Amino acid sequence: MTLCLGVETSCDETALALVRDGQLLAQRIATQVGAHAVFGGVVPELASREHLRALGPLLDGLVADTGVALGELDAVCVARGPGLLGSLLVGMSLAKGLVLATGAALVGVNHLWAHLLAPALERPMAFPALGLLVSGGHTQTYRMDNPVAFTTLGRTLDDAAGEAFDKAAKTLNLPYPGGRFIDVLGQLAEADPALFPRPYVANDNLDFSFSGLKTAMVNHVAANPDLRAPALVDDLDALVAALRARGALEPLARACASYNLAVADTLRIKTARALDASPGVRSLVVAGGVAANGMVRAAMTALARERGLDIVLPSLALCTDNAAMIALAGEYLFKAGYRHGLDLEAVPRGRSIPWDYLQGAPGQARAGGDWTLDTRTGRP
Ligand code: KG4
Ligand code: ZN
Repeated sequence: MTLCLGVETSCDETALALVRDGQLLAQRIATQVGAHAVFGGVVPELASREHLRALGPLLDGLVADTGVALGELDAVCVARGPGLLGSLLVGMSLAKGLVLATGAALVGVNHLWAHLLAPALERPMAFPALGLLVSGGHTQTYRMDNPVAFTTLGRTLDDAAGEAFDKAAKTLNLPYPGGRFIDVLGQLAEADPALFPRPYVANDNLDFSFSGLKTAMVNHVAANPDLRAPALVDDLDALVAALRARGALEPLARACASYNLAVADTLRIKTARALDASPGVRSLVVAGGVAANGMVRAAMTALARERGLDIVLPSLALCTDNAAMIALAGEYLFKAGYRHGLDLEAVPRGRSIPWDYLQGAPGQARAGGDWTLDTRTGRP
């Protein structure tokens, strides 16, 4: 039996969760979305302070929910990047403090890998798998040989898919983060496949580039200023009613549907190419906030079916940032014999995460024993 605490503070959700042998026991999440919405994006300084304010009460709540004593923890698993540096440091400080106090093992977790492992909390996953991570900060494909061995195949050269949604939404005067608004409004009209380009597909590589698509939306709105939503309305039903009353719903919904389709098509084309480069893969895993998008889900489900692969899509609650996925990913590492020392460092967005685990006997919680630095590249 292994009991792992997950700590997630990489962006604008503060979350703690307990996982025991692959099963989620309990989770507490405090979202900061409201605090940042007025600024139209995440304010790093504010995020750090909110994490610091939220973590203590969340931990008390988690202990109260489960009756677990912190001394029972085998590992404290913490998102060590990529993310906002100040925010990561808040979660890492809590994790290191808990490790010092309890003697549990410290396991730093790659937040992106954790997103792709999250569905294993809900269902079995067959490896090797092809992972597509589509979030607000990242768009990446991985070959996942097993839960602790990932190889990056493609990455975005500029904007992430979620950023392309959020920036398009801003252009349309939709609230932040706007991906969900474009998704839902788009379901109210037929897409025009010719309205937006499929960016950066006329090449033979596996990388993504979404900045051109975002610019296409900016140009489209500049040419059709009436597309902009009349006022920043946070409530989707109220927004739809207001648009309908002005006869403005159809054109905006059509633009959103076409945009959803352009993103989904682009992801499908590049993911199909990544599959061609990954022989022997048994499942296709799609994770991250954009995996909540209806057209993206449909496109990936169709692609998996075409290739005879199992499609693995997390439930909507596990698509967004959470600590359950951090605890689970950390548990896989811990059980494979990986942990970190107290010198574990946070890695901000844009820098690659080093494979700097100490390797020892599998599942060994306490310090001491025979630990050596594993300098391999993430492929044990
Ligand atoms: O993974 P996530 O919760 O946070 C990180 O970036 O780590 O992803 C957030 C992103 C935002 O850009 C948001 O607009 C987008 O996911 N998103 C969506 C949908 N729901 C969230 N994009 C498209 N359709 C959605 N339904
Ligand atoms: Zn995330």
